[in-house]
Amino acid sequence: GLIRELIGIDVMELELKHRLKIRKVIIVPGNSDESLMVKEDLGKACAFCMKKYLTGKNIIAVTGGSTMAAVANVLTPEIGKKELLFVPARGGIGEDVQNQANTISSIMSKNTKSKHRVFYVPDQVSNEIYQSLIKEPEIHEVLNLIKSASMVLHGIGDAITMAERRNSKPEIMQKLVTNAAVGEAFGYYFNEKGEIVHKVLTIGLQLEDLAQIPNVIAVAGGTSKAKAIKAYMKKAPASTILITDEGAARMLLKG
Ligand code: BG6
Repeated sequence: GLIRELIGIDVMELELKHRLKIRKVIIVPGNSDESLMVKEDLGKACAFCMKKYLTGKNIIAVTGGSTMAAVANVLTPEIGKKELLFVPARGGIGEDVQNQANTISSIMSKNTKSKHRVFYVPDQVSNEIYQSLIKEPEIHEVLNLIKSASMVLHGIGDAITMAERRNSKPEIMQKLVTNAAVGEAFGYYFNEKGEIVHKVLTIGLQLEDLAQIPNVIAVAGGTSKAKAIKAYMKKAPASTILITDEGAARMLLKG
């Protein structure tokens, strides 16, 4: 459209894709730090992208967060014409209910008139508990569904913002500060070099599983998330499609 051309968004998309070394970048105009409408536009761009890459039968794994909630809000039954099953990507990672992956995956299924599975597992399980949990038939089954997803939709957060939102213990906060964590995705915290400095132990999708998933769509915008996006993209699979906004994109291109 005209606005996209005027602010050179197409050029920015290509430059950013090149710099981040990922499959594709889609930029919506504006800054979602300042406007809820821009967050809604991120949601719409994600819905459009989903439509494009969904094939016949699809398992879609989703994380939590307000951006994913914005995606859920704009999904329609038209997308659900394909056979879809929504699953949370990982077990509960201590957020308010409206931001939890289970909630978002169930809203996505409702809005697309398709199916979903819940996955309630505790955070921070010990290895012993983990081993016995994955033997539970119900958990085992959902875990297999998650690992065979053909699409993952996920958010990216600022490290400290996410740690606070999860009410992380003081020792964890200290660890993140000491190790200069800037970004977070899937419960993993990254420093500017993209190194993992901390990880929330929970059952579900692990970072190394992403390489096997054909369509990985990251949705994150706002100037305040530029550092986080840059850090995570150093670890992200090359198949990643990033949907972001002008606020984050301009900041990323400055550096
Ligand atoms: C959380 C995810 O629910 O949402 C995180 O577990 C993600 O991995 C975060 O970083 C993003 O939240 P928001 O509200 O900034 O979209």
